[in-house]
Amino acid sequence: MEAVGVRVEGVSKRYSHKVKGEVYAARDVTLDVRPGEFVTMLGPSGCGKTTTLRIIAGFETPDAGRVVIGGRDVTHDLANQRNIGFVFQNYALFPHLSIGENVAYGLRVRNVAAAEIERRVREVLALVGLAGYEHQFSNQLSGGEQQRVALARAIVIRPQVLLFDEPLSNLDAKLRVAMRQEIRDLQRRLAITTVYVTHDQEEAMAVSDRIAVMNQGSIVQEGSADDLYYRPASAFVAQFIGRVNLLPARVEAASGGGGEVTVLGHRLAVAALPAAARAGDTVRLVLRPEAIAVRPAQDAGTLPQGTVAGRMFLGEKVEYLVRCGEMALQVVSYDARPGDLLAEGAPVGVDFKGPDIPVLPEERP
Ligand SMILES: Nc1ncnc2c1ncn2[C@@H]1O[C@H](COP(=O)(O)OP(=O)(O)OP(=O)(O)O)[C@@H](O)[C@H]1O
Ligand SMILES: [Mg+2]
Repeated sequence: MEAVGVRVEGVSKRYSHKVKGEVYAARDVTLDVRPGEFVTMLGPSGCGKTTTLRIIAGFETPDAGRVVIGGRDVTHDLANQRNIGFVFQNYALFPHLSIGENVAYGLRVRNVAAAEIERRVREVLALVGLAGYEHQFSNQLSGGEQQRVALARAIVIRPQVLLFDEPLSNLDAKLRVAMRQEIRDLQRRLAITTVYVTHDQEEAMAVSDRIAVMNQGSIVQEGSADDLYYRPASAFVAQFIGRVNLLPARVEAASGGGGEVTVLGHRLAVAALPAAARAGDTVRLVLRPEAIAVRPAQDAGTLPQGTVAGRMFLGEKVEYLVRCGEMALQVVSYDARPGDLLAEGAPVGVDFKGPDIPVLPEERP
């Protein structure tokens, strides 16, 4: 089957909430998913991920905007007219039906012939690694197996679009990692256009072609995992994707996009400043823990000075907490050699691996 694109265009949905009053669960959300692409909506609890996904599925009608699938406006089509597979967080299997009947359900309601149903159920159970499970019941299955059944049930109808709402959150950490890879492999194999929802940034980074970060009902930035990590457009995205030190700095000179700043009392060249930045402005440097190096004091020369306030040896890396005046910096070192770990309390020099450090404007509350 030819893969189709999904376009969510200016979609808004408001609810009246008992505690919060009127809330925009989704606010002017626009998202384009290319045919065969795997796009994840990522954001904190309550940011509108499920609402947007349910609008794509047709379980909710938006107050404004439209949903276009394969070039066709489906905004007012019922869910069962959309040819979409949906995988829920809690699996939503029917406990009184066998696994085979659970998977067959979507084919039965579509009046597919019995022999064809049997063939496709067998085929799709094999595809998710559950060959021979037809006559089991869901209470005889582990969480991971139930999630595979839910996946089988979603794909057996040969949907044009596959939607996932936090499908792995009920599984333990190890199984989550294995299952996300399986979902990704299957999605690639079937080349099926997919929208995935999670609040787990690592999961999003691991499976997605592209991530749309949401906050308070809106998409605040979209891009590939490395785009978002290396070029966050706001403190919210910088803090949501990976760990970060946001360091206040003063612009000393701005020229041709880049310039010089003072940070922790020292001058530093940066390749790109915010467009409106002028000398004297305060900006914030986005420093990932691995973009900071700590040097023993004797090699530190003219670097900003700090003190090791905490150290965690984790095998392939060492994590330090380094105090510099009022700032506490998270630092990760991957090139420690046996015998030369820095001790707690040791004075160090703090070095920034520039010059392509992202710089954000100061955010006004
Ligand atoms: N049926 C509803 N009635 C009233 N308010 C709702 C309803 N559904 C969602 N909301 C509100 O809309 C906002 C967005 O909810 P939504 O379920 O889309 O968030 P989410 O990003 O999926 O969060 P989570 O990660 O916790 O699942 C929340 O403030 C929520 O309380
Ligand atoms: Mg949700």
